[in-house]
Amino acid sequence: MAIDTIKWVNGAVRIIDQTLLPEKLVYINCRDVKTLWHAIKELKVRGAPALGIAAAYGVLLGIKDFKGDSTPQFARHVCDVCDYIAKSRPTAVNLFNALGQMRLLVLYNPDKPVAILKAVLEAEANAIYEEDRAVCRAMGKHGAALIKNGMTCMTVCNAGALATADYGTALGVFYAAKEAGRKFSVYSLETRPLLQGSRLTAWELMRNKVDVTTICDNMAATVMKNKKVDIIFTGADRIASNGDAANKIGTYMLAVLAKHHGIPFYVVAPKTTFDLKIKTGKQIPIEERAPEEVTHFGLRPTAPKGVKVFNPAFDVTPNELITGIVTEYGIVRKPYVKNIHETFRV
Ligand code: MRU
Repeated sequence: MAIDTIKWVNGAVRIIDQTLLPEKLVYINCRDVKTLWHAIKELKVRGAPALGIAAAYGVLLGIKDFKGDSTPQFARHVCDVCDYIAKSRPTAVNLFNALGQMRLLVLYNPDKPVAILKAVLEAEANAIYEEDRAVCRAMGKHGAALIKNGMTCMTVCNAGALATADYGTALGVFYAAKEAGRKFSVYSLETRPLLQGSRLTAWELMRNKVDVTTICDNMAATVMKNKKVDIIFTGADRIASNGDAANKIGTYMLAVLAKHHGIPFYVVAPKTTFDLKIKTGKQIPIEERAPEEVTHFGLRPTAPKGVKVFNPAFDVTPNELITGIVTEYGIVRKPYVKNIHETFRV
């Protein structure tokens, strides 16, 4: 599990370049906010909680070179940096929640000197990082109780150590179950088009000696029918007040298949992935990415030149297909509107 996906080191954001996995494990240092912005956009760093942390540290990069001692000017600059980072990727609400926290600190402290505000912002970014480590462990503990000896599990995309500051959300459940001595196996969907399932999830589960089998996305129904899948865990990028959950494209398909086969379908996500300002999943902005991600496999074309492409990076699973949402506070079940609000006491 010990893998430093993202860390603030000597005034730089050190990340694993996840586009190079599983072939190479390469760390890169983002020393300015523009480099970090592109790393987010290109999925060198990815996964909702890691994006929240990257955004917070991105603010530190953006204020590094601010000269002067005018607090109002500094506050405007922090807001500009936040606006810039907010344009990197639209779906994972963790990114916006972290930026909101950083922004509020300067707006609520108009009388503090710039030097103090810089220190406060750094402490806040580090707190966001540390909080994610703690909540991964709490979610893992709650979710692991659902895994019994001999179970066959399934997951999609990568909601593991590579998506968080610790051992992940959905994959954290597997790690916690393994730590508790449970024996189980995992089917990991490869997750077209960018293969986070086969490149990242299979890589980190194998590294941590979890029994994992990679399958193509279109094999999920057959595996459910013939191999007896007992339970499914996925991550989320944004969960609405009613429990509708956006996650990597293909998650909705998996939930529909799970219902057909009578398989419990759990979403694992911390409070920072909830967007309680929105009522339903219809309000979640879904990122659409470049057509080349679908028409090419690396440099090799896999579709005719000029073909029309639709490439949404996420889909929304309606709450009725979700058996439960594993959070750091425990497992939230239906009715979601009431129970989500009670869990987070809003
Ligand atoms: O496009 P990505 O790789 O950032 O998508 C990631 C996912 O969909 C994850 O499942 C989600 O962010 C949860 S990560 C704990």
